[in-house]
Amino acid sequence: MDKLAIIGGRELYGELEISGAKNSALKVMVASLLTADALTLTNVPDLADVRQLLVLLDNHGVEIDRDGATLRLKAKEITSTTAPYEIVRKMRASFNVLGPLLAREGEARVSLPGGCAIGARPVDLHLKALEAMGAQIELEEGYVVASAKQGLRGARVSFPFVSVGATEHSMMAATLAEGVTTLENAAREPEIVDLADCLNAMGARVEGAGTSTITIHGVAALHGATHDVLPDRIEMGSYAMAVGAAGGELLLKRGRMSLLGAADGILAEAGLTLTDEPDGLRVTKWGRPTKGTNVHTEPFPGFPTDLQAQYMALMALADGTSVIRETIFENRYMHAPELMRLGANIHVDGQTATVRGVKSLRGAPVMATDLRASMSLVIAGLSAEGQTFISRLYHLDRGFERLDKKLQSVGALVERVPDTD
Ligand code: EPZ
Repeated sequence: MDKLAIIGGRELYGELEISGAKNSALKVMVASLLTADALTLTNVPDLADVRQLLVLLDNHGVEIDRDGATLRLKAKEITSTTAPYEIVRKMRASFNVLGPLLAREGEARVSLPGGCAIGARPVDLHLKALEAMGAQIELEEGYVVASAKQGLRGARVSFPFVSVGATEHSMMAATLAEGVTTLENAAREPEIVDLADCLNAMGARVEGAGTSTITIHGVAALHGATHDVLPDRIEMGSYAMAVGAAGGELLLKRGRMSLLGAADGILAEAGLTLTDEPDGLRVTKWGRPTKGTNVHTEPFPGFPTDLQAQYMALMALADGTSVIRETIFENRYMHAPELMRLGANIHVDGQTATVRGVKSLRGAPVMATDLRASMSLVIAGLSAEGQTFISRLYHLDRGFERLDKKLQSVGALVERVPDTD
């Protein structure tokens, strides 16, 4: 296993390509189960999570053809409607095969994903929505066993709170339901719009994606299509914060401000300059330290929970105090003690973290605890004096494509080295 060695204190300059969004790629890949024709996806990032989902799609009989960032998926015949625990437990997004399998085959047996490091993450909203569409659902030995022998039918689903996964899951299942489905209090993330665009290219009739009410007119069958995965807003925001912490100027190619939602105003308030350019988003930070600003996480267009850890690293060196409130997941501050090992002054009380900016951080060995937490340690390491070693790199490999190479190309002293401890 590798660890990441970082020598901090170098400003970042140049251009860096933003990859396709992990959290969009995973959903459009699952959408391939809805048709017997080929779905061609471009701009698919090469990530551990993508490879893991391919293992599951292969288990269902999907023919897979990968050429660089282009992925061709053809589910000509579904050979198994069971998604086994051994595969689903490794990645929660796998659970979203339930709806498409049910919609196309009238049955599915999918392992419950279980909790994960950042919270319990139940799937009750997913199941209630499928039940509203006429699915019979039983829980048997850790599996969701669902059937809809007469097919799914359109329904009105009103979510009690916003869920990205439940919105996407219901939207996919409803494409093949008989009649009209309305999703109220739907998530509005850019990945929802990307999935709707992909489904519509496949012949679905999805309206209103990107707003709180999504209407899906069911169709008898979907067909093949080509879809370009949207750029990863979390990768983009993370590199913007790396510039904020280390200083310098980067053009984040393919990036654009609108993908940041409320994060653009927060970063500007903290002292970063963000400018949309024809090729991408330009981020500049030099001179004075960043300013301590308060943030609470919210569904899009609010400040994303997936950037909260990175923002904490940025605030560690800010001038003043920043109060951060995590409202989406109940256990998403595991990076705080690791940042404190680098000299950050952070006090966590329940869902609130108070970060008092310090003059400098000092490199140290630290441990990645989850995907976005790992990136916060990278950002802190880039701005710290001396050397930082980040172990458990497999977390980063799940969601940041070629991170070491990208950072090297803009002047960072970053290297993967074997972890012999
Ligand atoms: C997606 O998770 C993302 N994952 C997460 O990114 C992201 O943090 C999250 O949305 C919020 O933006 C993928 O897209 C693969 P939710 P998801 O359903 O869909 C609760 C990353 O690092 N809830 O919007 O699972 C849930 O526990 C990952 O890339 C229920 O209670 O998130 C959470 O508290 C981490 N019942 C809240 O809702 C349900 O049935 C929002 O979760 C569903 C969710």
